[in-house]
Amino acid sequence: MVTNDPGIRPILELKDIQTYYGRSHIIQGLSMHLEKHEAVSILGRNGVGKTTTLRSILGLTPPREGRIIIDGEETSRWPTHRIITKGIAYVPAERHIFPGLSVEENLKLAERIKPGEDPWSMEKIYSHFPVLRAREKQDGSTLSGGEQQMLAIGRALMGNPIIMLLDEPSQGLAPILVNQVIQPILVMCVKSGLTLLLVEQNYRMALQVASRHYLMGIKGIMARTATSDELLADSTIIRDHLTV
Ligand SMILES: Nc1ncnc2c1ncn2[C@@H]1O[C@H](COP(=O)(O)OP(=O)(O)O)[C@@H](O)[C@H]1O
Ligand SMILES: [Mg+2]
Repeated sequence: MVTNDPGIRPILELKDIQTYYGRSHIIQGLSMHLEKHEAVSILGRNGVGKTTTLRSILGLTPPREGRIIIDGEETSRWPTHRIITKGIAYVPAERHIFPGLSVEENLKLAERIKPGEDPWSMEKIYSHFPVLRAREKQDGSTLSGGEQQMLAIGRALMGNPIIMLLDEPSQGLAPILVNQVIQPILVMCVKSGLTLLLVEQNYRMALQVASRHYLMGIKGIMARTATSDELLADSTIIRDHLTV
């Protein structure tokens, strides 16, 4: 039966989720999905609920209602440590580099070897981010913002994830660094088969990395979805949903 074909089943699905912080009802009925190997972005202004959406998926702030389904299994009530065993990596906005650990140790700690074609390894990370090799023995927390972002992405990749969630990876970084380092590595990740959910306010980068975009309005309500081509053709869509 066609509906049981794992090839067409979404790898990640949110069905009408409702998420709260205490009594604050932040996400009021959010539905979205990602196909396997797809790169999708969530675009929206500050405070609409983008980070809370990622926290809901990860079980850090689990939804009170609604369902989250990862690769066919409902994970909505699972603890975070179990959810990430489904192959989920998270690159938080604050990067959370472990202080007191070298660049190499930050990477080693996240290593999870998976059989398969050309898995991520320390060597592969260093070949994509040569600056990390040069700083291998340096305390990770002493790196520049851009280097810490590379380390945070590298660390996520060391787990050989199936789905990578990124929270505003371009935030606070010089445009040249975003264009020449962060964007190409994310494009390469998608080409190599990783499924990406990219939260951004930098729509220019999101358009280059992701092919489909969810435009989030207040209370986590998805105003609409659009392809990169649609966003390029109609600049009013971006203006209506982002501060540009
Ligand atoms: N820990 C928290 N406790 C209470 N309210 C929070 C907390 N974190 C975020 N919020 C509120 O939830 C809303 C959505 O926040 P967030 O998901 O961080 O938005 P975004 O990532 O889109 O900027 C905001 O109004 C924010 O003030
Ligand atoms: Mg946020």
